Amino acid sequence: MAHVELDRLQACLNFALDTLRKELDNSQLPPLSQLSSVEHPLDDPTTYLPSTGLFEARRLSLACLGELKNLIQSPLDKCMDERFTAYGVSCTDTLIKTGIIDYLSDVPNPSQGVPTAELASKFELDSQKLVPILRCCAANGWVRETRDSSFALNRCARTFVEGNAGRRLNLSWPGLMTMIEGIPYWVAESDWKFSHSPEQTAFQIGFKTSLGAFSWILEHPDVLVPAADHLQVFGDMSTPSVVADYPWEQLETPVIVDCGGGMGGLVTAILDAHPSFRAIVQDMENVVALTSSIMEERRPRDIENGVLKVEAHDFFQPQPRIGNEYSFILRHIIHDWPDKEAATILGHIARALGPKSKILIVDMVAVPNIDATATTSVESFLTDGDAKRRDNSISSHFGSASKYVNGCSVHMLATLNGCERSLREWEILVRGCGLRITNVYPLRAHASIIECALDTRASL
Ligand SMILES: C[S@@+](CC[C@H](N)C(=O)[O-])C[C@H]1O[C@@H](n2cnc3c(N)ncnc32)[C@H](O)[C@@H]1O
Repeated sequence: MAHVELDRLQACLNFALDTLRKELDNSQLPPLSQLSSVEHPLDDPTTYLPSTGLFEARRLSLACLGELKNLIQSPLDKCMDERFTAYGVSCTDTLIKTGIIDYLSDVPNPSQGVPTAELASKFELDSQKLVPILRCCAANGWVRETRDSSFALNRCARTFVEGNAGRRLNLSWPGLMTMIEGIPYWVAESDWKFSHSPEQTAFQIGFKTSLGAFSWILEHPDVLVPAADHLQVFGDMSTPSVVADYPWEQLETPVIVDCGGGMGGLVTAILDAHPSFRAIVQDMENVVALTSSIMEERRPRDIENGVLKVEAHDFFQPQPRIGNEYSFILRHIIHDWPDKEAATILGHIARALGPKSKILIVDMVAVPNIDATATTSVESFLTDGDAKRRDNSISSHFGSASKYVNGCSVHMLATLNGCERSLREWEILVRGCGLRITNVYPLRAHASIIECALDTRASL
């Protein structure tokens, strides 16, 4: 009997995994292992940029695995799986908060495993509570049960060790779960169900505030540092690819202005690779105080000789850097905001542009989840006229491998009434500001670079 969908996904997965293996070898990377207690270079996208083939093979493998799971899992199991993801989050948070992750990483033989009784006595905890929590983390791939009730960190859990990227990325502010729980009420029942204001969202309901998310964070010093850390790592995940995959040498303006540039990580990486540019980091007043002190410490010479400037600028006000000298970066800015606010931000920059200036929007491009077959990016990845080519297609939105984009979109929606936009939505937004999209550069990351310039045709 022909099992059309199963056969297609199995063929696609085989192809993707074969390619993954080849690309790992070509890149001279060690085999991936869950038994290893050492991080793999692929584990940290903030420091390692995979080859395009490796990036695509990994994404395609994950898409096939997710679609296979959707195909064969019972809906009732799927329903409970989804509900239980919240417990998974709490369990990893517990391991971080108690210090268990750092302890497991520091033991003399980390892959051997530590008895729960030892963890319980070390941290004055109840081992009867720890065992189910650790087993839940094991089921999610973070730890391994090496003997009955003894646990070791898996390779990927190293990201949660103090100072590492996953620990800094981890969004775990008190109140966040309350905001998430409030989404159905906000969407279906609240007075704000038709509001698109960034100050009338599930965030205000969950955090019991009338402030917008950014203003609220600035008023809460205990959240400011973890939030800045989270945003920095979230951005850093695309930095190596932004630097490598955009043709910076074609940019005709000598100065790059990073609007809402946060801690300045992106422009400093660009300056390192392309020292002929000068750069300006703009952000809100309270944020640039922190950015300035970081930059003065890390790049004193660039600050002294004016190669790098940090300045306070509210992007809802007219842009002071005007003309052909400047191009602008907006990374993870526009997705924060609803259309009206997004158009105000883009409009102010559009009015400052010279004919040579570009705006580089670094954000995700959401692909509508219609049942299309492979996109161009997958097609181009399936090389050398493979005989099985037609079997190797997967939906253009990459199925459950698009969970990241879609999860992020709902997070933006709940927090600020923002969202991740499709290419059609980007085009409408950009055109409404007197701009046109001149190119879209896919990145080896979740985001793309949407390059825009003044739409001179509009004035003809
Ligand atoms: C999601 S973060 C992106 C940070 C940075 N672009 C990156 O990619 O790492 C959003 C940034 O927008 C800044 N921001 C929010 N409202 C702003 C405003 N009205 N004017 C200027 N910056 C603002 C925040 O302080 C924050 O640094």
